Amino acid sequence: MPGAIHAEGLVKTFGDVRALDGVDLDVPEGTVLGLLGPNGAGKTTTVRVLTTLLRPDSGRAVVAGIDVLKHPQEVRRSIGLSGQFAAVDEYLTGRENLQMVGRLYQMSARDAKRRAAELLERFNLADAADRTAKTYSGGMRRRLDLAAALVVSPPVMFMDEPTTGLDPRNRQALWEVIEELVAGGTTLLLTTQYLEEADRLAHDIAVVDHGRVIARGTSDELKARIGGERIEVVVHERDDISVAEEVLRGLGRGAVALEEHTRRLTVPVVGGAKLLAEAIRELDTRSVEIDDVGLRRPTLDDVFISLTGHAAEEAGAGGNGAGDRADAQAADRKETAK
Ligand SMILES: Nc1ncnc2c1ncn2[C@@H]1O[C@H](COP(=O)(O)OP(=O)(O)OP(=O)(O)O)[C@@H](O)[C@H]1O
Ligand SMILES: [Mg+2]
Repeated sequence: MPGAIHAEGLVKTFGDVRALDGVDLDVPEGTVLGLLGPNGAGKTTTVRVLTTLLRPDSGRAVVAGIDVLKHPQEVRRSIGLSGQFAAVDEYLTGRENLQMVGRLYQMSARDAKRRAAELLERFNLADAADRTAKTYSGGMRRRLDLAAALVVSPPVMFMDEPTTGLDPRNRQALWEVIEELVAGGTTLLLTTQYLEEADRLAHDIAVVDHGRVIARGTSDELKARIGGERIEVVVHERDDISVAEEVLRGLGRGAVALEEHTRRLTVPVVGGAKLLAEAIRELDTRSVEIDDVGLRRPTLDDVFISLTGHAAEEAGAGGNGAGDRADAQAADRKETAK
C-alpha cells in the first residue's frame, strides 16, 4: 500500500487536555478522506502526528507503507503538507518561495523555475509573484502555502483546512487543483469545517469530536444519518418561542434545536417546501410574528447535533474551551513560525 494512510488508537495529551483519545483512520490509496470537526476536535493534532511533527503518547500509524514512529525521516520524503497556518518565508518573494521548495526537493533550477511559474499562474498569484510574501494578504499567503505543498507531487498529501480564508473564486480554483491531484493517484487527507467541502472532495468522511472519530462514511451515508433539509425560523418575540417550538415539533422529524439569544428554531424535515408553507401558515394562524424563515441543507452543526446531541460550540465541555483553543493555535503558530 505505497499510498495509503493507516492510524490505530492514536492518543495525545497536552496536560489535562486529551487532544487525541484513540483515533483510528484508514485512507485507501488514491482516495480522499475528509476529516471533519469543530474547533479543538483534534484535526490538526491528527495531521501533526501523521506528518511526523508530533509524537503520540500511544498508538500506531503507517503512511505510504512506512511506520511513522519508527521511520519519520522516510515518511517525510513521501508526503506533502499544507498546514493550517501558512509556513511561507516572509522575506522571499512568492516565486522565490516556490523555487526554493523545488530546489529542496532536488529539482533542477530550470524545472523548479518552470513549476513555480505554473503554480503562481494556477493560484492567481502571477501578478504578485515578485513581491515579498510579507506584503501578501492572508488569502494570498494561504494560496502560496498551498502552492508550495504542490511543487512536487508526493504520493500522500495532507492539507489542514486548505480553503479557510479563501474567497469563493480561489476556493473553487483549489478544489479543481485537488481534484486533478487525486485523479493523478494522490492519496489525500484533508481537514475541514465545511460539510460542503468534504462533500465535494472526499470519498470518505470521518467526523471527529473530543479527539475521537464519532462517525464515518461517505457523504451520502452521513447525510442519510443526519437527515435531509431543515426548516429554520426566527421569531420576533421571545414569548413566542414555545408556540413556535410546538408547531415545528409537529412538522419535523426529530428534536427542535433552539438558539435562545437569536430566537432561532431549527428542525429536520422530510418533504421540505410543502412543510415550509405549512409551517408559515400554522405560525400565522397562531399569531407568531416571524423575522426570518427558510429551508436549508444540513450544516456541520446539524451533523453534531444529530451525532452527539450537542452543538459544535458546546463541544467545550471537558477542557476544550475557547481559551485553550486560542492558546493552542497561538502555540501552533509559533511552532510553525520556527
Ligand atoms: N501544543 C498544544 N498544547 C496544548 N494544547 C494543545 C496543543 N495542540 C492542541 N492542543 C489542544 O488539543 C485539542 C485539539 O486541538 P487541535 O488543534 O487538534 O484541534 P483542531 O480540530 O485542529 O481545531 P481547529 O478547528 O480550531 O483548528 C484542543 O483542545 C487544543 O486546545
Ligand atoms: Mg486545526
